[in-house]
Amino acid sequence: MPEGLPAAGAGARTLWPLPQGLTFLNHGSFGLTPKPVLQAQARLKHEMERDPPRFFDHHKLMPRLADARAAAAEALGAAPQDLVLVDNATTGVNAVLQSLAFPPGAEVVSTDQVYPAVRNALRHRLEPVGGRLIEAALPWPVASDDAIVAAVERALTPRTVLAAFDLIASRSAVRLPVERLAALCRGLGIPALVDAAHGPGQTPLDIPALGADWVAGNLHKWYFAPRGCALLWVRPDRAAALHPTVISHGYGGGLAAEFGWTGTRDVTPFLSVPAALSFHRALGGPALMERNRALAAEAAALLSHAWRTEAAGSPDQRNAMASVRVPGSERFATEEAARLLHDRLLRRHRIQVPVFPFAGALWLRISAQAYNELGEYSRLADAVLAEAPKLDRPARSR
Ligand SMILES: Cc1ncc(COP(=O)(O)O)c(C=O)c1O
Repeated sequence: MPEGLPAAGAGARTLWPLPQGLTFLNHGSFGLTPKPVLQAQARLKHEMERDPPRFFDHHKLMPRLADARAAAAEALGAAPQDLVLVDNATTGVNAVLQSLAFPPGAEVVSTDQVYPAVRNALRHRLEPVGGRLIEAALPWPVASDDAIVAAVERALTPRTVLAAFDLIASRSAVRLPVERLAALCRGLGIPALVDAAHGPGQTPLDIPALGADWVAGNLHKWYFAPRGCALLWVRPDRAAALHPTVISHGYGGGLAAEFGWTGTRDVTPFLSVPAALSFHRALGGPALMERNRALAAEAAALLSHAWRTEAAGSPDQRNAMASVRVPGSERFATEEAARLLHDRLLRRHRIQVPVFPFAGALWLRISAQAYNELGEYSRLADAVLAEAPKLDRPARSR
């Protein structure tokens, strides 16, 4: 890792391979791997290609994967033996769902902000048994933690066999009170799966303290690992029943063996975890997370003030992301308008930021990362004020 990294802000930008002139406000969707971590991964790839049989030698590879798991576990307050590395949060969630038996008519409870891919994974398991996914409706744009817990409580029934909650909901960027939700479920004997895709590296996390039965989370978003790197944590008493979605040589050999080999694949994202975590620490670790949270809060306030709209959730429910309503968008809250606004912001203003329709309006989700500074959100405020009104016109005159 380089010594003396520049402080977060414009000076830190050179640590990422960002093209000049691009205002990148979407760390959340896919992460953005810093150059030093890409270099560490390139060295690993080189080593892999020089002599694959030597690189993949079980006796050599397994201890290296164990080191990577241990590094991730340490960062997240977990015991290394309870945590495995998987390709992405979706894979982690699917491993849990494929490992469970769903009885006929089973019900699973989630919220109406569940990530669409996870919704599909749940449907895939429930439809063959005539089961049902029940999505507790969360008040929008602001739901207090009490209101969220009450909405979920109302959805739980004696037929509920599983509950699945996002730690940070993708659309609203609101952190759900998963500790309270998991405790509620535990009291009723219902196992809880937490999808913490956006958690690790965005907000300080003690994974076992969430009180869930399983937690999936990405390392390739906010912890700077190369893409294709996530974790799955399991409560120790559930470990024996958990298997990867791909069964291979390690079957029956325990979590590390089963998840450590799921067929030949590029394991360099996993082996880059120590470099990624060390980069995150070098930029401040918890101080970086706090700096990003504060910047996102300031940016959300700036945007909602400039647009005379609101951000989803209260500031204390948000971390380094915030979703803010696009002014006047109640009149054009469609997927097409969202795509148009996104493309115009990118093409005409060189701003990369996600836009989506939700609850009768368009919303725009900002992220704050070490390479961002407040001025970038001011530019976004102006750009949206210039572009949004044009979406309200007939297609030919936009
Ligand atoms: C809440 C949530 N769950 C799951 C995912 C999926 O992550 P991945 O594509 O890395 O599996 C995302 C991605 O943004 C997400 O926001």
